[in-house]
Amino acid sequence: METLYFAIALLFISYGAPANADFGEDGDPGEVYFDYNRNITLNCTIPSPDKTQSYVWKKNDVGVEQIAELKGRYKMLEEGAVFSLGRSVEDDYGNYSCALGAEERAWEVRGRPVARLPDNTNVVEGQKIKLQCKVTGKPYPAVSWYYNSSATANSSQPLKEGSRDGRVKLESNEQGIEGGALVLESAARGDAGFYSCRAGASSDHTQLRVKDMYAALWPFLGICAEVFVLCAIILVYEKRRTKPELDDSDTDNHDQKKS
Ligand SMILES: *[C@@H]1O[C@H](CO)[C@@H](O)[C@H](O)[C@H]1NC(C)=O
Ligand SMILES: *[C@@H]1O[C@H](CO)[C@@H](O)[C@H](O)[C@H]1NC(C)=O
Ligand SMILES: *[C@@H]1O[C@H](CO)[C@@H](O)[C@H](O)[C@H]1NC(C)=O
Ligand SMILES: *[C@@H]1O[C@H](CO)[C@@H](O)[C@H](O)[C@H]1NC(C)=O
Ligand SMILES: *[C@@H]1O[C@H](CO)[C@@H](O)[C@H](O)[C@H]1NC(C)=O
Repeated sequence: METLYFAIALLFISYGAPANADFGEDGDPGEVYFDYNRNITLNCTIPSPDKTQSYVWKKNDVGVEQIAELKGRYKMLEEGAVFSLGRSVEDDYGNYSCALGAEERAWEVRGRPVARLPDNTNVVEGQKIKLQCKVTGKPYPAVSWYYNSSATANSSQPLKEGSRDGRVKLESNEQGIEGGALVLESAARGDAGFYSCRAGASSDHTQLRVKDMYAALWPFLGICAEVFVLCAIILVYEKRRTKPELDDSDTDNHDQKKS
């Protein structure tokens, strides 16, 4: 009986799912992913409905008409069989259900996860590295981290708490997602490479460059050298200038004597 129900639900969802809601990546038929600002459409059409009863829609076990955040944002179509929520926002995720008499259907509605890292990350050797994986799509999925040494590397290695001889630490990121930030206390040259974070089916990467500790010093030394050379030039120039002035006055004197 359960398998039959599941098969029906599966059939129904694969036919009835609107363009903006589809199967969860892990194949759970009740999982629906939505994109922000797009409509969430749930279709509960029951083949031969008992016309004396009406569809009852709930979000997290509360009737949708009682939820303040949903007020004025949704429409019931097809005699209440279709729930259409306009311009979705992050907090529209949750467990939605509809019932018609004894028949019931449920969906776990989740924001489609998107992971983001900056394109490039630069640190100086010895500095602390902290990579923040920014995730959109509630409820937030677990975040995992991977590393590969070059863009053409064949395999990337998972980075976990304690990887790299205990140097890798996973912390909460700015959004409070556990494991959403990767920390290396003291950057070594060998830490350079491509770091990616994955949230659900989405992943992004950043290229980490570790600069030589003296690399930051060179421009400073360069400026010092420049200042030194400039001072030297000015000094020499000043000396040259004062000398001809004396010579000039000498010739002037001669001229005066001649005239
Ligand atoms: C809902 O599902 C029914 C039956 O599968 C279909 O006839 C109807 O067009 C669907 N409505 C929407 C809005 O997808
Ligand atoms: C989106 O939902 C809103 C509110 O339910 C509805 O008025 C609008 O027609 C829907 N748009 C589409 C493209 O389905
Ligand atoms: C929805 O249901 C799932 C599975 O029963 C549960 O783990 C999850 O916490 C529920 N979500 C909400 C927002 O209640
Ligand atoms: C990458 O993997 C492919 C297929 O597994 C293999 O043929 C190729 O030699 C590998 N390249 C390197 C650089 O390891
Ligand atoms: C290595 O990292 C680069 C950058 O993220 C990526 O393009 C490449 O596909 C990665 N290689 C593997 C095997 O993950």
